[in-house]
Amino acid sequence: MWCLVTLLSFLLLNGVSEAGRTSSYVREALPSLEIPKEDFPPPSGYNAPEQVHITQGDYIGRSMIVSWVTPLEDQPKFVTYWEANEKKSVETNGGIKRNRAHAITTTYRYYNYSSAYIHHATIKRLKYNTKYIYELGNGNGTRKFWFTTPPEVGPDVPYTFGIIGDLGQTQASNQTLEHYLACGKGQTMLFLGDFSYADVHPFHDNEKWDTFGRFIEKSSAYEPWIYVPGNHELDLAPEIGEHTLFKPYKHRYHVPFRASGSTSPLWYSIKRASTHIIVLSSYSAFSIYTPQYRWLKDELPKVNRTETPWLIVLMHSPMYNSNNYHFMEGETMRVVFEPWFVKYKVDLVFAGHVHSYERSERVSNIQYNITEGISSPVKDPSAPVYLTVGDGGNIEGIADSFIEHQPSYSAFREASFGHALLQIKNRTHAFYSWHRNQDNVPIAGDSIWFYNRYWFPKEETSSNA
Ligand SMILES: *[C@@H]1O[C@H](CO)[C@@H](O)[C@H](O)[C@H]1NC(C)=O
Ligand SMILES: *[C@@H]1O[C@H](CO)[C@@H](O)[C@H](O)[C@H]1NC(C)=O
Ligand SMILES: *[C@@H]1O[C@H](CO)[C@@H](O)[C@H](O)[C@H]1NC(C)=O
Ligand SMILES: *[C@@H]1O[C@H](CO)[C@@H](O)[C@H](O)[C@H]1NC(C)=O
Ligand SMILES: *[C@@H]1O[C@H](CO)[C@@H](O)[C@H](O)[C@H]1NC(C)=O
Ligand SMILES: *[C@@H]1O[C@H](CO)[C@@H](O)[C@H](O)[C@H]1NC(C)=O
Ligand SMILES: [Fe+2]
Repeated sequence: MWCLVTLLSFLLLNGVSEAGRTSSYVREALPSLEIPKEDFPPPSGYNAPEQVHITQGDYIGRSMIVSWVTPLEDQPKFVTYWEANEKKSVETNGGIKRNRAHAITTTYRYYNYSSAYIHHATIKRLKYNTKYIYELGNGNGTRKFWFTTPPEVGPDVPYTFGIIGDLGQTQASNQTLEHYLACGKGQTMLFLGDFSYADVHPFHDNEKWDTFGRFIEKSSAYEPWIYVPGNHELDLAPEIGEHTLFKPYKHRYHVPFRASGSTSPLWYSIKRASTHIIVLSSYSAFSIYTPQYRWLKDELPKVNRTETPWLIVLMHSPMYNSNNYHFMEGETMRVVFEPWFVKYKVDLVFAGHVHSYERSERVSNIQYNITEGISSPVKDPSAPVYLTVGDGGNIEGIADSFIEHQPSYSAFREASFGHALLQIKNRTHAFYSWHRNQDNVPIAGDSIWFYNRYWFPKEETSSNA
């Protein structure tokens, strides 16, 4: 009885009247064993380009960075591209107008590993909403891919994002990516960090970075992946003479950080369709006066909700997490940045790191001051929803130990592998769903209509409530 009363008053004090839900879904035990390197063979053909991945190349979506690796020669250093429907508009000479974008090429060493040639070419001045074909390599090593540019940035532009975190390269990882591809709705991937898990292997076996690049190519060569750095990208290993943070990651995954005035590829922002997306680095300094803090302080006032109604923040380590794994690791960043998230009415904050799924209530915990000790989350219509989608399925397995009882800030949580989809419809409505790997494609393990915090700050109710 005492317990019940305390619980009730706790809930009332916190202004959260509904209890959250912990799904009792018992997932089938899936192997989190890594797929052997041999099962990610390089493509056939002499010096064939491999590990192809693309990402937005500027602030507004008219450029694309194309990255690829060539194993034997550092040539050719360009990507050839043309509009997919060019044939219809072929002019007098009857040929397809092919354009070239030149690459910068890099290599690196990591302990006793030497990388192949890593190329990054930025294709500029693309048309919006247009399908392009692109070609890499030459001779019998030529490979062809395609992508579609986003619509012009604007308030009511529908657009669909896939969301995956902590992917790795296990059978479960493959199931997650296949399941996402089978749904066929995603136009751009928000990838929440922790890529290859090379660092769990002796000497951070960097061949695992290569096999990871081959693994994700079936998605990353055709739709942009927006990259977020995670702890498995740090690759700090002074014991083997590796002192440079993020070395393999920075050589392999280039982002358009300068376009948003950032001084580091680890934090940056882009505008895409009806969204303004901010990428933060959980593993870089973020307290007052640091470059990341100053950049975010300047960036948030630039967000124009008339142009991009949806303000989305991506980071690796969650600020709200009720799993025993990594509990409160995001707390210091929460203390520093949460007041801004509420002030600027961030719609959604996506994180990974915890290998399970969780969706929060709209809560904030910013009223604390030194004389008044209030320090627990309260419902706040200006606060973001925090989503943990760290359930890509990597070698470390599932995080299946939630804190009991479920805290009031936690709306729904489940220890299963899966991916999420965010379908933005217009400036007020976005349909969000989370899909566990074991279910058929149309089935959602969690879903909710999100209402935009700037245009329509109404309270949401999920089908799970
Ligand atoms: C591909 O071309 C290389 C030289 O350019 C040649 O040595 C090799 O035999 C060719 N492979 C195939 C399968 O045709
Ligand atoms: C790097 O060194 C380790 C340990 O000596 C060895 O097992 C591995 O095969 C080496 N790798 C390369 C690429 O030389
Ligand atoms: C990934 O899964 C797909 C579909 O089941 C399968 O065809 C493919 O071989 C798998 N990839 C690897 C590397 O095992
Ligand atoms: C915000 O975007 C709208 C629509 O593009 C534009 O008309 C307006 O001038 C912008 N506001 C600012 C402050 O830039
Ligand atoms: C601390 O918070 C309390 C309650 O919100 C408020 O009355 C008080 O003025 C605050 N003190 C300071 C120094 O801001
Ligand atoms: C926005 O999308 C939602 C969901 O599709 C729809 O119900 C609503 O009418 C749309 N709003 C406008 C102004 O079209
Ligand atoms: Fe992580």
